[in-house]
Amino acid sequence: MDARNLNDCHNCTDCDLAATRQRVVISRGSPTARLMLIGEAPGAREDALGEPFVGRSGQLLDRLLMDAGFDLQRDLYICNAVKCRPPQNRRPKRSELLACRPWLDLQIASINPEVIVLVGATAVEAILGIKGGMTQLRGEWRRWDGRAVMPIFHPSYLLRNPSSDEGAPIDLTRRDLATVRQQLCER
Ligand code: URA
Ligand code: SF4
Repeated sequence: MDARNLNDCHNCTDCDLAATRQRVVISRGSPTARLMLIGEAPGAREDALGEPFVGRSGQLLDRLLMDAGFDLQRDLYICNAVKCRPPQNRRPKRSELLACRPWLDLQIASINPEVIVLVGATAVEAILGIKGGMTQLRGEWRRWDGRAVMPIFHPSYLLRNPSSDEGAPIDLTRRDLATVRQQLCER
């Protein structure tokens, strides 16, 4: 039996990222939330502060979530596929995703969310095992592990595509988050 405890994640050295990290970044939000968001990996600010999505990407994500009607403290739990920052913010390697997966599985099992939002292609690949363009994947419900799963664009992509026009990535993400909110309200 795996007797892992999430607190032990702070001391994890199961992959090479342990050597260069400042802080292990585990989660923020509510452990009793019905919604879990999974991103890619910590960036510089997350690494310094020990919390996920607290840099520019996180601020944009928070704003979109609040606009969709979510209470950030109460309604959601946010984490990443990989808990330690990859140097120069490169994408996590497959081996790092695999090494960190037991921690993510532990989080999913303990939060037991009804709905999971996969934030960007790395999270989609980690959970659903599919590679593909987010333009095709976003906005469509999937079923995984008995849960409703929604892929959305990563906020770093939205920062590079800041148009607020109808049909632009930010608008599509607003629609996706509204769909998620509606799904949770209907249950
Ligand atoms: N990008 C992510 O995917 N996760 C973070 O925590 C910060 C930026
Ligand atoms: Fe451990 Fe995950 Fe950090 Fe690698 S990224 S050292 S597996 S917590």
